[in-house]
Amino acid sequence: MCFKYKNNQLYCENTLVRDIVYKENTPLFIYSRKAIINNYNKLKKAFSKLSTLICYSVKCNSNIYVLKLLSKEGAGFDIVSGGELFRVIRAGSKTANVVYAGVGKSTKEIIYALNHGILMFTVESESELERINAMAQKLNTTANVAVRVNPDVDPKTHRYITTGKKETKFGLDIKRAKAAYQWAMMLPCVKPIGVHMHIGSQILSAKPYAEAIDKMAPLINELKDMGVPLEYFDIGGGIGIVYKDENPVSPEEFGELLVPRLKPLGLKIIIEPGRYIVGNAGILVTKVEYIKQSGDKTFVIVDAAMNDLIRPSLYTAYHDIIPLKKSKNRSKKILDIVGPICESGDFLAKDREITMPDEGDFLAVKSAGAYSFSMASNYNSRVRPAETLVSGGSYQIIRRRETWDDLLKQESVSVREYVL
Ligand code: LLP
Repeated sequence: MCFKYKNNQLYCENTLVRDIVYKENTPLFIYSRKAIINNYNKLKKAFSKLSTLICYSVKCNSNIYVLKLLSKEGAGFDIVSGGELFRVIRAGSKTANVVYAGVGKSTKEIIYALNHGILMFTVESESELERINAMAQKLNTTANVAVRVNPDVDPKTHRYITTGKKETKFGLDIKRAKAAYQWAMMLPCVKPIGVHMHIGSQILSAKPYAEAIDKMAPLINELKDMGVPLEYFDIGGGIGIVYKDENPVSPEEFGELLVPRLKPLGLKIIIEPGRYIVGNAGILVTKVEYIKQSGDKTFVIVDAAMNDLIRPSLYTAYHDIIPLKKSKNRSKKILDIVGPICESGDFLAKDREITMPDEGDFLAVKSAGAYSFSMASNYNSRVRPAETLVSGGSYQIIRRRETWDDLLKQESVSVREYVL
């Protein structure tokens, strides 16, 4: 692990977290370069027996520096919007290794992706297939596509991040997918080169993947017999991490169960991990502003809030919270760790047994590398935190803290144009 205590002080790699915080203030995201690269390489190794492309899921942590880092390691990218493609392009990455998912791609986004020669669109509906074909025709090109198949398996994760069950909005069921491929074969400007699935996120076992692949394999073989020019099977992302006491499948076990199922299909494999690569490579450091007793409850009011890290509020997600400095003589207490936002749903931890901090202490919210900054907002006109990346004994700012001026940048501040 790249975050650990030495002499009771929290370090990221060889850098004392307190030193970064003293210079950059809080709330502050800190990522470990080494952790990101190690996680990427562990996954790559687990699938080394197959021809595999790892497409990092940009939505998870879209900082351009993170994209550059992974691009340099050879990663492709999984995107869901024109904005994410823009980031990938600005990161100097190859668009030929980009796969584009999402149920609502706009015409503008489709044209942008076609103009940049992405690897393939993962098509989520018949209407989208038709629109991509029409746009490709207009641009005098051919669009590579994969149909996103919804295999109807239960990944046993939070219902908001379950995507591979039939009642969700994602993909087409196996029967309709087959019809969509038949149709794609007749359309002049799409080439169905892949099959795609993504069954959910924070999945702790490889079994739902195996179940899904077993359901998809007959379809893939049938499509090949039909003459569909398949080259890729994209099995999506979703590999879970430890937030509390979970026991997620390791990349090795994941590979061991899946590689023998995938190999006979004879296709190049794409995986789209996000959380696995960056989730545990980041923390959010926050300062205790006030401690308040209210009846039986003790509230620790910190300077980070649901606008910085919405996962606890949105999914009642658990994030471990630890002090930057361990002190032995303090007792543990049941606490609510809450932010300054005017909503009771603004909490980072509820009824959590934790060592009692003092006002002015710093706390680290763990596993905050994924779906944390990328889901941050300016709610309550709070500025979004800075992001920093540690490498060995030094760090750099990879996104500066916003300022109050930033809050107004997009707004029409000149009142003369309006009748107030
Ligand atoms: N591929 C597709 C098509 C996806 O929709 C996603 C995530 C991924 C890959 C990457 O999944 P990962 O490996 O990171 O699990 N905001 C939620 C998670 C939403 C996931 C959305 N799709 C959270 O904070 O838990």
